[in-house]
Amino acid sequence: MSDTAHIITLPGDGIGPEIMDAAKRLMTELGGIEWADHDIGGVAIDNHGTALPHETLDAAKRSDAVLLAAVGGPKWDSTNPDDPRPEQGLLGIRKGLDLFANLRPVKPVPALYGSSPLREDRIAGTDLLVIRELTGGIYFGEKKRENGVATDICSYSESEIERIARVAFKSARRKVTSVDKANVLETSRLWREVATRVHDTEFPDVAFEHLLVDNAAMQLVAAPSTFDVILTENMFGDILSDEAAMITGSIGMLPSASLGGDGPGLFEPVHGSAPDIAGTGKANPMAMFLSTAMMLRHGLNREQDAARVESAVDAVLAGGLRTADLGGDAGTAEVVDAVLAAL
Ligand code: IPM
Ligand code: MG
Repeated sequence: MSDTAHIITLPGDGIGPEIMDAAKRLMTELGGIEWADHDIGGVAIDNHGTALPHETLDAAKRSDAVLLAAVGGPKWDSTNPDDPRPEQGLLGIRKGLDLFANLRPVKPVPALYGSSPLREDRIAGTDLLVIRELTGGIYFGEKKRENGVATDICSYSESEIERIARVAFKSARRKVTSVDKANVLETSRLWREVATRVHDTEFPDVAFEHLLVDNAAMQLVAAPSTFDVILTENMFGDILSDEAAMITGSIGMLPSASLGGDGPGLFEPVHGSAPDIAGTGKANPMAMFLSTAMMLRHGLNREQDAARVESAVDAVLAGGLRTADLGGDAGTAEVVDAVLAAL
């Protein structure tokens, strides 16, 4: 892409603005990207009374890609269902852009093998991709509270399962493991049936297996390197991807891409807004950098630059620089300087 890309940047809350500044320094260095900040999450609630202002969603729809840092924080925590919540911004923009396919690659860099709580011989060679359905399931079903009883509806249609299954089979290098709870949930039985049909009719040559989610949670720490693509529904994918993050040493390392709609994709770290360290200059910018790399690759068609960013991140980690989440004492600015120098 030789033309300038126009993206929107959503710094959000907590450490969000700090790591977004890091991404902006990186994008300045790379060139060819123009951005405009918009509000989402808690800061949007404060400024506009809603976590996803119309103008943010409209600007997102007109952009080439959306880069998001993090939303949420104790300031907006409430159990009152009528209060606006920062997470509504994130869920709203995912739904609003029809981003049904969430890609979360988990590939620990050898330099960080020692930072994972799992033994090195367990995690060595792990290179897996969680493909999480992102716009259906219990996240988006009807929610209500009546006479002291709370309900969250989980529903999936055949077409929702088909389209995410196709993304998984197309992404497979060795095999696809579909994760469900078909021994208990009707949505999971449909999931299993439809995923099997898509496999048998469209991708019969891809190795394919089913795993119950509780077993998958165990196998992820027992034998993570046996996985290739993990295909799963919204909430199972949320939980399993946090678990899988620790294979890389820290959730501060994991990027994600949300794709699928006709318009722009959204790129964001898997980690949250870390309000406990916000403003201290200690946040790990690596997941934000790796998310920017995913944006370059999947959103802006700049594969070479994506690989350059990833190599720079690897080189800095190999050199021993670590933020606090990885057991080191480097600050955000120091890591950013090092990555830019390694580019
Ligand atoms: C994630 C986050 C979100 C989710 C929250 C913040 C709503 O945990 O992206 O994994 O559950 O999807
Ligand atoms: Mg999550």
